Amino acid sequence: MQGQQLGLTPPMGWNSWNTFTWDINERLIREAADILASEGYKEAGYEYIVIDDCWSLKERAEDGSLVADPDKFPGGMKALADYIHSKGLKFGMYSCVGTHTCAGYPGSFEHEFQDAALLAEWGVDLLKYDYCFKPRHVSGELLYKRMSLALKNCGRDILFSACNWGEDNVYHWIRESGAHMYRSTVDIQDSWDSIKSLTLSQLDKASSTGAFCHNDLDMLVVGMYGTSNSGFIGAAIGGCNDIEYKTHFSLWSLMGSPLMMGNDIRKASRAAKDILMNKSLIAINQDIEGRGAYRIKPEPQWFHTDEVFMLVKVLTDGDLAIGFFNLSDGQKEISLQFWDLGLPYASGKALSLYDCWEHKELGVFKERYAPVVAAHDCVVVRAKLV
Ligand code: GLA
Repeated sequence: MQGQQLGLTPPMGWNSWNTFTWDINERLIREAADILASEGYKEAGYEYIVIDDCWSLKERAEDGSLVADPDKFPGGMKALADYIHSKGLKFGMYSCVGTHTCAGYPGSFEHEFQDAALLAEWGVDLLKYDYCFKPRHVSGELLYKRMSLALKNCGRDILFSACNWGEDNVYHWIRESGAHMYRSTVDIQDSWDSIKSLTLSQLDKASSTGAFCHNDLDMLVVGMYGTSNSGFIGAAIGGCNDIEYKTHFSLWSLMGSPLMMGNDIRKASRAAKDILMNKSLIAINQDIEGRGAYRIKPEPQWFHTDEVFMLVKVLTDGDLAIGFFNLSDGQKEISLQFWDLGLPYASGKALSLYDCWEHKELGVFKERYAPVVAAHDCVVVRAKLV
């Protein structure tokens, strides 16, 4: 058992929901695993293949067990888990705190220990646990504690991915519950407005993430370009462009969110792959100390709205990851005074900057750095004290 290491850094992988919602099957999941293993994603750090909602039959078996839908998964979950494991990957599944899942399949309420045992038997490595149809008389806090207890004692390491959309003051109790990651936002949509609003909702939550319990801003929409099969999630919305996906990925990386891809990775564009496999950004996201990113407002402060800001993440080796974000609709100069990082000019120290998207050294700077950033774009640097 991996035990103490489970969930140390933000989990990375792929989840079926954003693009495929209900339209999932064994073949799709196997193909996703093949791509993760053969196209460099695994080496980049992506390891979980997660089946979201809609995988089971609508009724439990007579003995109360969940049953995988035999039309969608004729080979059964154990064989699928074995296949995913044979690729050196991990297998994630989905259930719900309530009597039903959000799409109306059986939830785990009052079946927690039985379901955890079945997941362990199948070889599951991650459980995403949703919040629909929760009976009113029991608190969500208690139900997450309950499933955590069941998972931690099921005989297998199963990473616990809570998903209560930031409700019921989740920040105040989720770490204690035993969850390794927790959704803090409503469902993402494949649109710039959605990316922007999820980001702005979590900017003041820098201290609510960290090793073993990561604030999850929801799955990535990078590379979807409006291809979700759900009108609610994306198709009707039309998707984003590559600049916006780059900014989305930079925000999630710096803010320490789990990185769960949600596009059809069998058909990923070159641009989407380059974004999803940016090694410098992934290294920032996976930094072992798992510190949240603090926000700095650019000078002059009265001039900028909340849509223009810098995020700074203190890294284990002493470097700083700094993102200059322009979520507004016009080009902006974003001025960082090194004083605001704790670096006064009088110290005689400077910062050597490496551009994580241009993949090049920018040089050594004293006192300030002020890139001009296009609308919806960002600049991310790794800064070394010299
Ligand atoms: C909720 C979750 C989503 C997804 C769906 C499945 O909306 O927040 O991420 O799991 O349920 O029905």
